[in-house]
Amino acid sequence: MNIIVHEESKQFHLYNDYISYIMYVQPNGELGQLYFGKKIHDRDNFNHLVNYFLMPVTPYYDEKTFFSLEKNRQEYPSFGTGDFGTSAFKIVDKDGSGVSCFKYKAHSITPSKKKLPGLPATYADEGEALSLEIELTDEISKVSLFLTYSVFKDYPVITRSARFVNTGTEDIVLDKALSLCLDLPDSNYEWLQFSGAWARERHIVTKRLDDGITAVGSRRGHSGANENPFVIIKRPETDENIGEAIGCSLIYSGNFIAQAESDADGKLRLLTGINPDTFSWILKSEECFVTPEAVLAWSDKGLNGLSQAFHALYNNHLVRGKWKNKERPILLNNWEATFMDFTEDSILKIASKAKEAGAELFVLDDGWFGARDDDTRGLGDWIENPAKLPGGIKGLSEKIEAMGLKFGFWIEPEMVNPDSDLYRAHPDWAFSIPGRDKTLSRHQMVLDYSRPEVVDHIHDMLYNVIKDAKVSYIKWDMNRSITECLSRGVTSKEQGMVYHRYILGVYSLYERLISEFPDILFESCASGGGRFDAGMLYYAPQAWCSDNTDGEDRIFIQYGTSYGYPVSSMGAHVSAVPNQQTGRTVPISMRGNVAMFGAFGYELDLNHISDEEFETVKRQIEFVKEHRKLLQYGTFYRLRSPFDAAQAAWMVVSQDKKEALLAVYTMRAVVNRMPGYLKLRGLDPDFKYECNGKTYCGDELMQMGIPMKDECISGYSISYDGSSAVVVFKAE
Ligand code: GLA
Repeated sequence: MNIIVHEESKQFHLYNDYISYIMYVQPNGELGQLYFGKKIHDRDNFNHLVNYFLMPVTPYYDEKTFFSLEKNRQEYPSFGTGDFGTSAFKIVDKDGSGVSCFKYKAHSITPSKKKLPGLPATYADEGEALSLEIELTDEISKVSLFLTYSVFKDYPVITRSARFVNTGTEDIVLDKALSLCLDLPDSNYEWLQFSGAWARERHIVTKRLDDGITAVGSRRGHSGANENPFVIIKRPETDENIGEAIGCSLIYSGNFIAQAESDADGKLRLLTGINPDTFSWILKSEECFVTPEAVLAWSDKGLNGLSQAFHALYNNHLVRGKWKNKERPILLNNWEATFMDFTEDSILKIASKAKEAGAELFVLDDGWFGARDDDTRGLGDWIENPAKLPGGIKGLSEKIEAMGLKFGFWIEPEMVNPDSDLYRAHPDWAFSIPGRDKTLSRHQMVLDYSRPEVVDHIHDMLYNVIKDAKVSYIKWDMNRSITECLSRGVTSKEQGMVYHRYILGVYSLYERLISEFPDILFESCASGGGRFDAGMLYYAPQAWCSDNTDGEDRIFIQYGTSYGYPVSSMGAHVSAVPNQQTGRTVPISMRGNVAMFGAFGYELDLNHISDEEFETVKRQIEFVKEHRKLLQYGTFYRLRSPFDAAQAAWMVVSQDKKEALLAVYTMRAVVNRMPGYLKLRGLDPDFKYECNGKTYCGDELMQMGIPMKDECISGYSISYDGSSAVVVFKAE
C-alpha cells in the first residue's frame, strides 16, 4: 500500500497489491481522474491520457491547449465551467450563479484514517490504511474543499468523502454535496441495483447501461426497502467468478442517490451521495460540512470477488465493539408467536421452550410499554405496561436470565403514535406542517430527530429502562418513512437541512447508547429490511433482513443482500407455517437451512410445533452452534441464483480452506429432468475433502462439480418443492 505524489506532474497514485487509483491536477487547477482498476506500475506522469484537442462546439479552458473539462474525466465535477455532466456538488453564494471552480492548493498524507464527525465510516489502525487529503479552493466563493481518500492494505477498495469549509464572512448554501464521483473512460457496463419493497427487499435488477442516466435513490428519510445505497457496474461478460466489476456503497442511512451517466463520448460517470432533492445546507462563516463516506471496490474475480471484498471490509473495518467478528447468539423472538398479545407468564413459557431447544437469547418484541396493545397507540411512551410486565423489563430480564438465557427487547425510538402521552405533551416534536393534513403510516408519526432535545428526551426514557435490567440485545425498529418534513426547531430557511440532521440525530442516539451499554448487541430494523445499509452496520452489527420469513422468499432476499453485505449482518429467523406473509408451507428443514446463513434465530412459539419438528429445531441449533463461525464469517460464494433457476445454492469456506459448508435449495420442483452438476468454489484444488462418507479432490469439486443428486447430498432433490440440504466438506 502506498500513495505516490509526483510534484511536477501533480499526479497522485494510490495503490495496494490489488488496485491503483490515479488522479491529477488539470490545467485549470481542478482535479481530474485518470484511472481506477487493477494495480499498475507507477510512472512520473500519465499526461498522454489527457485529451488536448479541439473538438467542435466544445468549451475549452484556454486558447493555447484547448484543454476541455467536457472531454476529460473529472474527479469531483463542478457546475457551470464546461463540464456538462451531473456535478458532484453545487454551491450558491452571493452572486447567485451556482458556478464554482475548485483549484488545487495543497495535500497531506496521514497513516491510517480519520473519523468523520457524527457519521459512520470505515476505520483503520496505523499500518492498515493510508489517507490522502487534497485541499482545493474557490477564491470567488471563498470556500475550501477537502477531498479525502483512503487506501487499505488488504482490500481492493478506496474510500472517499468530501468536506466543505466556508472561509468567507457570508453564508453560502450547499445545494448538493455528493460523496463520490468516478469518471470511467468507457461505458460498456451492466448496472446492478438491489430493489424491492417491504417484504421483498434487495432483489437483483440488472440493466445494460446506455446513453443517459440510470439511477436509484430514496426520498423517504431512510435508505428504504425500495432501493439500496449499493450498486454494482460490471462488464457484460462478468459472472459470479470471473471478470471485472466495480461496487459502490454509501455508508449512510438517509436519503441517497446512486447514479451512472453515460455521455456522448462514451464516458461513464458514477456518482453517489446524499440525495440533493431533499438537501440544501446553509454553511455559515467558518463552518464545515462533511459528506458521508462512499466505498469503491474493484474486482477481477467476478461478483463473488467483489462481494467478498465488501464482506471482509465491513466485518473488519466498519462493525465495531464487542460484537465485531463475534459469533451471534441464537435467539427466539416472540413477535410472530404472540404479536402484542402476551403476558409475562405466556412469555416465560415461550422462553422456557426456547431454552429447552438450545436457544441462547430471548427477545421480547413490540407491545411491552405504554398502552401498546395494538399498533394504534403507545409509541413514544417508553415505560413498561405493568399489566403485562409486573416487574417491568428488569423483572422479566432477571427471570429470563435465571432460566439460562440472555434477554433482549424491541424499541422504535424514532416514532410516536398520536395516541400517546408523548404526543399529547409535545405535538410539535413530530414532523407535520401546521394547517396541512398529517400523513400517517402504521398509525404513527416520525419524531423530529433533527432537534437535540427530542433525542435527549427519548434517550433518557430508554436509559431508565435499560440501566437496571439485564439487557444483552436491542432490536431498534423504524416503521415509517418521513412526510411533511418540517422542523419546528429551525427557521424556514433552514428546512433543507432537516433530513440530514434527522439521520445525524439517529446516529447520535445510537452512539450514546452503544457507549453507555457497550456489551449490548444492537440489531437494526425498519419494517424488516427498510434501512439495511452500511451506515447502520457501524452502530448495529446486524439488521433484520425482512418481515418476510417465508423460507423460499428468504433465499431471494438473502441472496440479493449478500452482494453488498456480510452473512453475519443478516438477521434471519425460522417462523411458523403457513407463513403469515405468503401463506406458503415450507418444510422446517428448508426454513432452518436458509436462516442459518445469517444471524440465526426463531420467531414462533416452539410449544406449538410437533415433537418431530421440535427435534429438528434442536438439531438445527446444535448444527449452528457447531459451525457458527464458518456460517457467519466464512468466505461466501454464490453458486446458483434463485433469480435464474428453480434451485439455489451457496457455500462458505473457511480461511484455511479446510472446511466448507454447501447449501442447496429447491424452490420449484423440476419434473423429469436430469439434475445436472453444481460446481463448488473457493476450495483448495489439491486438498482431499470428505463429505458424508465420500471423498473428493478440491479440483474435481470445482471443475467437474457434483451431481445435484450426489450421495453426499442424499435426501436432496431437484424434483421436490422445498427440498434442501446443508452439508459439510472437511479436508482430510
Ligand atoms: C416491524 C418489524 C417486525 C416487528 C414489528 C413490531 O414490522 O419489522 O419484526 O418488530 O415491527 O411492531
